[in-house]
Amino acid sequence: METNLIVPAGEIKIVIDHLSLYYGSKQVLKDISLSIPEKKVTAIIGPSGCGKSSFIRTLNRMNDLIPEARVEGRVLVDGENIYDKDVDLVALRKKVGMVFQKPNPFPKSIFDNIAYGLRFDRHRRQAELEQIVERSLRQAALWDEVKDRLHQNALKLSGGQQQRLCIARALAVEPEIILFDEPCSAIDPIATARVEELIHQLKADYTVVIVTHNMQQAARVSDYTAFLWLGELVEYNRTEKIFTNPANKMTEDYITGRFG
Ligand SMILES: Nc1ncnc2c1ncn2[C@@H]1O[C@H](COP(=O)(O)OP(=O)(O)OP(=O)(O)O)[C@@H](O)[C@H]1O
Ligand SMILES: [Mg+2]
Repeated sequence: METNLIVPAGEIKIVIDHLSLYYGSKQVLKDISLSIPEKKVTAIIGPSGCGKSSFIRTLNRMNDLIPEARVEGRVLVDGENIYDKDVDLVALRKKVGMVFQKPNPFPKSIFDNIAYGLRFDRHRRQAELEQIVERSLRQAALWDEVKDRLHQNALKLSGGQQQRLCIARALAVEPEIILFDEPCSAIDPIATARVEELIHQLKADYTVVIVTHNMQQAARVSDYTAFLWLGELVEYNRTEKIFTNPANKMTEDYITGRFG
């Protein structure tokens, strides 16, 4: 499948080049090549077990945490292969942040959840931390709801608020790319609508990649959509094209709910 020409060359942030992923001897991503545009939302869709989470984790080397995982091919972020030997993983994960399916705040205060990643940088003063916490909470559309109780335990927030807190925590370290792995599957429809609206706003400043099971969500929030099936990239194109006139019969069957 020819995917190189889908995103205009000047708009590319990430190039995935012949990427394969194995867990032990089991191959779960098969020779995937596609380019992800800067400051747009790219959705990854496909049936359960097709490799969506595995794929998104290859974009900030979260798979390194799985001992039996092995990657072939290249992932270029701003032209640099993140799988090169001398890559600084701390810097990489700062640049490429991640938000998970289940909100996972630390059992600490709202303030500390966001300040956590920043405290490692000892030069930061309290006033600066306060500024960053406020900025991040505003960006994540949570500030008004929590500004009077920043020192309350984050676990007392609702699920939707916790997910926005996790987004604020990801934003606090000023990433350039944010990966979302099914960010709305554990929250209610109203919270989902807020997170979708937020994702829509985030693309003004960030490159966003989102895994979702929800076709309507992919159609609503994304600019580009990749359809994976059994570890293979079946189709990648502008979201509008994928959802109105897919080239592949399998894509059509999946988006119309005939399988998966
Ligand atoms: N740590 C692991 N070790 C071995 N196999 C794994 C591991 N994690 C995932 N797999 C396997 O890799 C394949 C892809 O899994 P992955 O979680 O990436 O799929 P997914 O598309 O995200 O599924 P879902 O929609 O259910 O979240 C599956 O067959 C899964 O069983
Ligand atoms: Mg998954």
